[in-house]
Amino acid sequence: MNKPILAVAVALALLTPAVFAQTAKPLARAPAPNVDLKRAIEIVNGRCSLCHGAEGESASPIFPRLAGQHPEYIAKQLADFKAGRRKGTMNDQAAELTDDEMKALGVFFGEKKAKSYAIREEDLGAVGRYIYHKGNSFSGVASCASCHGPKGDGTVQLPRLAGQHAAYIEGQLKEFNKRERTNDNAIMHAIASKLTELEVKAVSLYISGL
Ligand code: HEC
Ligand code: HEC
Repeated sequence: MNKPILAVAVALALLTPAVFAQTAKPLARAPAPNVDLKRAIEIVNGRCSLCHGAEGESASPIFPRLAGQHPEYIAKQLADFKAGRRKGTMNDQAAELTDDEMKALGVFFGEKKAKSYAIREEDLGAVGRYIYHKGNSFSGVASCASCHGPKGDGTVQLPRLAGQHAAYIEGQLKEFNKRERTNDNAIMHAIASKLTELEVKAVSLYISGL
């Protein structure tokens, strides 16, 4: 990194906490678009909560946590499930949803507070931390942090990972590797195909604790 860019990065890093403190909200993001949250709550209580929990907190590792996930990402995945671009249990669940309902569901879950796990296997977590932040330059794996962010917050274009169940992350990495996650955009396939079994376990565990 050259010096001017480094200076800007440092300045930004120093500024950010102050900016966040002024607009202190549980989740710092753009104001929610105008959506029908009442309708979202009806749908969640009627169906989604059975698997993902009433607040998207999902107590079972089989079902991904949705709390704190980016609304745009949720809406896109629902549209992909509806259209059959991504395959799984969710195809039936998304079949009847309208675009407005998908947007509202995204906003509903996006506003919920995310949790994270306490990591018990410290050594494995440490391997995961290395992969997450540094990648593996020996096998050509990019650092996860370079896209998903150092805290796993993701962005509007890519998912939040922080606090997700390790088993779900692991499952998705395996699906990306085999191209079974049929709506992927090839980036995650390239990454997952270079991860070893140990790296998959370790990075999934580390992410669950972010
Ligand atoms: C019968 C259980 C079940 C129900 C009910 C259910 N889901 Fe899911 N959902 C899953 C499973 C399992 C996955 C993981 C992907 C897969 O394997 O299909 C998932 C994945 C998702 C994802 C993708 C998450 C990610 O990180 O990529 C979203 C978004 C989602 N569900 C939203 C919803 C919404 C909204 C509802 C209610 C309309 C709902 N789900 C109802 C089981 C369920
Ligand atoms: C070059 C950018 C980039 C890098 C580096 C990257 N990812 Fe991703 N990741 C994405 C994008 C984009 C998606 C959205 C899915 C898609 O479109 O294929 C994604 C999706 C995911 C998902 C699915 C999340 C969900 O909720 O279903 C997981 C898990 C994941 N990435 C893990 C990782 C891990 C672990 C690493 C590091 C070894 C990593 N990613 C590195 C861009 C990246």
